[in-house]
Amino acid sequence: MKWTRRELISMGAVGLAAPFQSSCINPKPEARLLPSRTPLPKPFEAVLRVPAVLQPVNTDSATDYYDVTVKEARAEILTGRQTAIWGYNGTFPGPTIEARSGRQVSLKLRNALPVPIVNHLHGGHTPSESDGYPTDLIIPAGGFPVSHMQDSMARIAQGERDYLYPNKQRAATLWYHDHRMDFTGPQVWRGLAGFYLLHDEAERNLPLPRGEKDIPILICDRSFDADGSFLYPALDPSLRTQAGVPHEYMGGVLGDVILVNGAPWPRLEVADTKYRLRILNASNARRYELALDPPPTGTSFVQIGSDGGLLAAPLRHRTIRIAPAERFDVVIDFSQYRQGSRVTLVNKADSGASGQIMRFDVVRHERDESRIPERLAGDVPPPDHGSAGLTRTFNFSYQRGMQSWTINGKPFDEARMDAQPKLGSTEVWQLKTDFSHPLHLHLVHFQVLSHSGRPGPYDAGWKDTIDLGPGQAANILVRFSDFRGRYVFHCHNLEHEDMGMMGNFEVV
Ligand code: C2O
Ligand code: CU
Ligand code: CU
Repeated sequence: MKWTRRELISMGAVGLAAPFQSSCINPKPEARLLPSRTPLPKPFEAVLRVPAVLQPVNTDSATDYYDVTVKEARAEILTGRQTAIWGYNGTFPGPTIEARSGRQVSLKLRNALPVPIVNHLHGGHTPSESDGYPTDLIIPAGGFPVSHMQDSMARIAQGERDYLYPNKQRAATLWYHDHRMDFTGPQVWRGLAGFYLLHDEAERNLPLPRGEKDIPILICDRSFDADGSFLYPALDPSLRTQAGVPHEYMGGVLGDVILVNGAPWPRLEVADTKYRLRILNASNARRYELALDPPPTGTSFVQIGSDGGLLAAPLRHRTIRIAPAERFDVVIDFSQYRQGSRVTLVNKADSGASGQIMRFDVVRHERDESRIPERLAGDVPPPDHGSAGLTRTFNFSYQRGMQSWTINGKPFDEARMDAQPKLGSTEVWQLKTDFSHPLHLHLVHFQVLSHSGRPGPYDAGWKDTIDLGPGQAANILVRFSDFRGRYVFHCHNLEHEDMGMMGNFEVV
């Protein structure tokens, strides 16, 4: 007897275990804190590290070739203790891939974990077969029972797979992460995420901070078990068969330790000059409202880029709200502080330990060669509503009867195509929510036409993820170009995604 995913979900076999069914029927599953079972580390003792840049194993005129093994490893995240992680080449975050617009990247990914993996380049304009569709598994070299898999279109690889990223897109801060069907939340939590920085000439020619003053910052929250390991409420901690978390964590898992590039509340010594930070929220479910404490007399953050690369012109913010999967490229000007100042990057969305993120210590004077030009990129035209053909509406909500996160009332089903946009067409997608959901489309970058009224302060530029608050609606303008095939769109709260809030579109 075979069950479809939908049937399994309505039976409570996906996302819910029998012992939890009766214990807690929460009508509104909010994201929930999972407290660590070990004393929290002290903030600002660790030093911020920047993930190592991955070296290609080979290059030719058109392509850089990379080899990465995904494996178990140990990392010292808490001082003097070892945390078992799953990492790309055994590191968390994974090594940074530096790519150039117009040169392709071929990534050979070997799976040395005991469970299947899938790799997705988030923000990548990628052909379908390399996009990391959730059932396009790389199962372990020794095999893995996938008989329960219902997806006849799945492209299963054993041991390894080559992903091809054309990089025919503008410079942008992208990231890669695991996307295994039903298990993305726990696998990213264990460490499967890293940066992919795409550069181009237009960006290189701008006088922005560069070199050691251009820093990728991956922020995520985690909780730790008594033995120092990552704590996650998986129903099946081996992540082999049963997916999901107990009902009370269906709204999302929040950790109580904030990691930046894998270190708890680190600090960084800076000069009194401008720095470019490429900020990524790689948390499963946590939103941050970033601010500087003390605030400078002038501007805290000058935003120069969003998910899909540089903005047309810089935008000034006092605080930045960043939801899971979003990126904000910002410049902070530390010349606004006196030498000796300690400037904390805080999270105004929370108090206590998770109200802090990292600290900058302004320790030296340097001449600043960098500048933020008033025009950054020429290729962010104002959205042209008139060019759009079809309008589609998608409702993102929790269905209490099914105990599932859904789109238009239905949990994910790989056999159901939710939209078939034509290649080369432009559409308006109207997104509506019940609770807060950071919504993400694969393949494309879009422009925000409206967001419960006018586009919000954090919707500028080309986006691939838009954060909607409870009961909000947004219209986004999406162009489907270059690649045909099957892709997903989903909520990037990873627990919502794993528990049904994902749909399919096929470019035809
Ligand atoms: Cu980061 Cu399917 O997404
Ligand atoms: Cu994506
Ligand atoms: Cu959601």
